[in-house]
Amino acid sequence: MKVLVVGGGGREHALIRKIKESKKVDSIACCPGNGGISYDADCYNVSATDIEGVVNLAKEIKADFVVVAPDDPLVAGMVDALNEAGFPTFGPTANAAIIEGSKVFSKDLMLKYNIPTAEYKVFDKAEDVIEYIKEKNEFPTVIKADGLALGKGVIIPESFDEAVAGVKEIMEDKIFGASGNNVVVEEFLTGPEVSVLAFTDGKCVKPMVSSMDHKRALDGDKGLNTGGMGTVSPNPYYTDDIAKECMDKIFIPTIEAMNKEGRTFKGCLYFGLMITPKGPKVIEYNCRFGDPETQVVLPRLKTDIMDIFEAINNETLDDLDIQWSDEACTCVIMASGGYPKSYPKGIEISGLSEGQLEGVTVYHAGTAINDDKLVTSGGRVLGVTALGRDLSEALEKSYKAVNEISFDGAHYRKDIGQRALNALKN
Ligand code: AMP
Ligand code: GLY
Repeated sequence: MKVLVVGGGGREHALIRKIKESKKVDSIACCPGNGGISYDADCYNVSATDIEGVVNLAKEIKADFVVVAPDDPLVAGMVDALNEAGFPTFGPTANAAIIEGSKVFSKDLMLKYNIPTAEYKVFDKAEDVIEYIKEKNEFPTVIKADGLALGKGVIIPESFDEAVAGVKEIMEDKIFGASGNNVVVEEFLTGPEVSVLAFTDGKCVKPMVSSMDHKRALDGDKGLNTGGMGTVSPNPYYTDDIAKECMDKIFIPTIEAMNKEGRTFKGCLYFGLMITPKGPKVIEYNCRFGDPETQVVLPRLKTDIMDIFEAINNETLDDLDIQWSDEACTCVIMASGGYPKSYPKGIEISGLSEGQLEGVTVYHAGTAINDDKLVTSGGRVLGVTALGRDLSEALEKSYKAVNEISFDGAHYRKDIGQRALNALKN
């Protein structure tokens, strides 16, 4: 098979490495890819959001299967277009991807089908939001732009003034464009967060191993929100009891709800969960593999990933037994100086050699090759990933590898996995 992967970050690199292991695959293409991906796949300079361009590329290279990884093209209907052109695909159609594309949709879905989530209200006018927040006078509160916003559409103001400023930016200055036409204001929940990615063909749902993201830029969960500064798998807060409760109250009800709405979801559904004192609740759904969750989940997958993708496409997932390794996996993101604010590009990366440490894989997120040199080209640059017998062994390997790699201004969190290790001690 020739498989085309749409996207160009660390998640796509991890997907491509796993697809490369498949006994069914003899070549992999990627668009647009990145510097590191170009060692593993033929990269084409077509944007991941260019639907017509991707359909044409799939035709040109005669792809046998197309995997659409990022949120924007899924929400915009790339899978619909590829299916129409006759390509088997992995990823939801637009009418199902709305579960991530609209927070108002997902909150209303959860309310209608009794799926546990934070209480909320929807607004389309800034003055009404401000009035509501003033009256409620409970801080912190949570304000979310309805549409896609590069993972940055959520603010958690600690005061009324902060809330007013945030609402103004989202609804009046439109820093996220039309995504801010509506906002959801919701109750602030507390508890550890768990990411669960799940394969589903719309008939059954098979959760992957759990993981924990680290969203803030700085140690101790300080600083700005980012796309994710590191991940560990498994997540110790996701006990067998919690997993069962999530299956019964969240995963199956969500799949059934989408079917009842005529929006059958096929692909990877990402459940962002918070384990609150009142049980697990949904913080968000994503219609795709998480980044950097994928980087710690897929290395633990033992089953041929193309068997899974094909089973989902053929709606026969229930017949497939998916196997996972008991090892732990950790990913430390090395980011450009300044990220998540503005950062320089084109900085040379040194100290990186494949297979430098056993069990370590460096997934490339924002790299390019310039004059045969590997340079930075994005905010998140590398995901330094390791498998180990347990979390502490994996973390030790990840950080050992991080210490060997350098580029000017590089920053990374030194405390990835600490919360998970502490949870294991208690
Ligand atoms: P989201 O983009 O929806 O995942 O939100 C980003 C982050 O904001 C989440 O990972 C949580 O840490 C936090 N968050 C979102 N919603 C809530 C909530 N209702 N209560 C507390 N924290 C929240
Ligand atoms: N790591 C969170 C996300 O992929 O949205």
